[in-house]
Amino acid sequence: MRTLSGIQPTGNLHLGNYLGAIRNWVRMQDDMPGEKLYFLADLHAITVHNDPAELTANTREMAAALMAAGIDPEKAILFNQARVPAHAELAWLLFCTARIGWLNRMTQFKEKSGKNREGASVGLYAYPVLQAADVLLYQTTHVPVGDDQKQHLELARDIATKFNLDTGTETFTLPDPTIPPTAARIMSLRDGNAKMSKSDPSDMSRINLVDAPDTIMAKIRKARTDAEPLPSEVAGLQDRPEAKNLVSIYAAMADESIHDVLSRFAGQGFGSFKPALGELLVETLRPIATRLNQLKADPAAIDAALEAGAARAAALARPTLDAAYSALGLCR
Ligand code: ADP
Ligand code: TRP
Repeated sequence: MRTLSGIQPTGNLHLGNYLGAIRNWVRMQDDMPGEKLYFLADLHAITVHNDPAELTANTREMAAALMAAGIDPEKAILFNQARVPAHAELAWLLFCTARIGWLNRMTQFKEKSGKNREGASVGLYAYPVLQAADVLLYQTTHVPVGDDQKQHLELARDIATKFNLDTGTETFTLPDPTIPPTAARIMSLRDGNAKMSKSDPSDMSRINLVDAPDTIMAKIRKARTDAEPLPSEVAGLQDRPEAKNLVSIYAAMADESIHDVLSRFAGQGFGSFKPALGELLVETLRPIATRLNQLKADPAAIDAALEAGAARAAALARPTLDAAYSALGLCR
């Protein structure tokens, strides 16, 4: 068994990233047998406009944030993609297996390129093939991702199947996406129908992992709600997206079911629920923020951890990369 996942180092982690992705990585790190590999997808980050100094800073910041959130470089292999050239090498080989027709169906490219398709980078178009390389390079069996990445994982399976068939080998293992049932989808604090995202122009729409306690309390206090008290049943949250979101955040943070949260707060208004939620967030996030600030004070230590992780990853990648070159008849 081998578990792998990646995240683009695009700056500040928010509560959506934490509850939807990172917390599951930490749980799988602790619960799954076999190697766990977690990486910062810096090669993916340059598929769109990129400021070099910012990328360097964000890569370190995200690595520190992952460690602060519980990724332990002793238990999991933590690295950034650019430090393991095998990712880019295998991607080239897989470009020749993947079909243009397959990439034309990728919905994320359509969304990200928008109306300016002709002006998008070739890298943005080829992005899912690099992602397939990330996964296939390590004979990965389990890939914890959000629902939006399912299509890319299907593509990785198609590429692996075709490569194995074309070369008459069993070079690659077919990976399975693991979309944990506990992966919470967190919505914006300003609009219960929009997902919490770092690209939302309003900082009031999200809780950042580094927000100060006062900021967290203020953001929750100002979060959009309705005027009704909380219902006693889950069904009572239907058509109340903002109320549902706040209750879901509470449940996810406290590791309780929505049902349990409602049975405690049923009949109460947001005047009492919001302070309870704010305090829960402050207390749960405080150790992460504290640890993040400690880690950030020593960038050399972050780099050393990433470098050590990259060396371990490169060693694991080697046999598969060699097998892929050789399956294609490439002499090295
Ligand atoms: P953003 O939307 O802030 O740009 P990304 O697209 O970079 O975030 O996502 C990074 C990871 O965090 C992905 O695994 C994604 O599924 C998860 N994620 C992002 N936003 C949310 C959210 N609001 N709720 C749950 N998971 C999220
Ligand atoms: N595309 C993923 C995202 O945007 C990040 C990613 C890159 C990834 N390579 C991966 C996720 C390999 C899982 C496996 O969230």
